[in-house]
Amino acid sequence: MTTTETPLYLQGHLAPVPDEIEAVDLPVTGTLPPELTGRYLRNGPNPLPGENAGHWFAGHGMLHGVRLREGRAEWYRNRWVRTGALEGHPFVRPDGTFDRTAVHANTHVIEHGGRILALVENGLPYVVTPELETVGPDDFAGRLTTAMTAHPKTDPVTGDLHFFGYSPLPPYLTYHRLSAGGELVESAEVPVAGPTMMHDFAVTARHAVFLDLPMTFQMRAGLPYGWDDAYGARLGVMPLDRPGAVRWFEIDPCYVFHVGNAYEDEAGRIVLDVARYTRDAIAATWQAIGPSPSGHAAAAAAAGVATLHRWTIDPAAGTVAQAQLSEAGLEFPTVDDERVGRPNRYLYAVSDTEGILQHDAERGTVAAHGLGPDVVAGEAVFVPSGAPDRAEADGWLLSITTTRDGKASELLVLDATDVAGAPVARVTLPRGVPAGFHGSWIPDEDVRRSTCCP
Ligand SMILES: [Fe+2]
Repeated sequence: MTTTETPLYLQGHLAPVPDEIEAVDLPVTGTLPPELTGRYLRNGPNPLPGENAGHWFAGHGMLHGVRLREGRAEWYRNRWVRTGALEGHPFVRPDGTFDRTAVHANTHVIEHGGRILALVENGLPYVVTPELETVGPDDFAGRLTTAMTAHPKTDPVTGDLHFFGYSPLPPYLTYHRLSAGGELVESAEVPVAGPTMMHDFAVTARHAVFLDLPMTFQMRAGLPYGWDDAYGARLGVMPLDRPGAVRWFEIDPCYVFHVGNAYEDEAGRIVLDVARYTRDAIAATWQAIGPSPSGHAAAAAAAGVATLHRWTIDPAAGTVAQAQLSEAGLEFPTVDDERVGRPNRYLYAVSDTEGILQHDAERGTVAAHGLGPDVVAGEAVFVPSGAPDRAEADGWLLSITTTRDGKASELLVLDATDVAGAPVARVTLPRGVPAGFHGSWIPDEDVRRSTCCP
């Protein structure tokens, strides 16, 4: 039964599914481009039947996968990530240390160095097969001694995977780099003011940028992280060839879950686009997705939104300029992966009211693919067309949409050069897929070089 006292994260389009299923030969409306041959994998929280994890972010990770091949939607399947937490192991051991395999692995799924990794920011990555079966946790031959963010960044030129781990206990922040082949080749502690909740970061061709923001670890009832007025806010710029050497720039306090992209401009400034919450917006949002004491209907009404902001960091002047780029409330910003750390014109995002958005930084305009009041869009992942010398938006956007009652879902395929236009294709999924977090398109050539599993 759903009532106003049922947590928001167990209702409607967020309601978990009770089991693992498979379906083959999915109905397709429109025409799937044959170039889309691979897998769209998406992660999200899905508590076990009857379980209330206490917060949207605390459900066990479940992967949803849709296999496309040469114009057909061959299968859909969903699988829990079989972590230590799913087996009931506690994250905090009796001696106060953390079991980084006893995590939910519920936030993102990526491919790197021939391995598909399910990620969550307080734990080790979990390797899964292309068919979504769990292989096990990966500490990169024992070299990773911290957690791994769910938002690593792959440099499109070197193939290196830059990431960090943060912790409520010292060291609070550690930077790491995997080679293109998947070997952990660098780790360096980054001095930071305190135990900040750092969900995402940015890289450019030459720098990492850390967001040291005032959502900090505080042992309070139910919610271990909260806003700290005294903490301040700053951006940390670290040359990638001098790990650990960070220069901090003060900014107005705010919170950011997600970075869109960052790059160096011709003047040597760092341009950083983010989905930014004000203090009031993050407080309302945090309450709405957690164990709201004020009633969940009230929390839903009060939930805040993030808006697209640009920070321009000028190292020569020692300043950060802040500008709001659009009025739209949005989240899950994404870009063409081949532009990560490089100048991008387009940024994609989702809006609770306007559907899937494409922001054009050159024109300052936003194109929207509306889904109507009864459907919510998941993160829109850009898949390049693969054409030689393609234009930036030459490709497709993939998003799993879910009706607000949670009963039905589609994999939506949009032409990224015509986001507002009719979908290229819609794949009917066999049931509602709970709205979740992040995912990746994994083309078959990446599956073929998979080293993880027989
Ligand atoms: Fe995220």
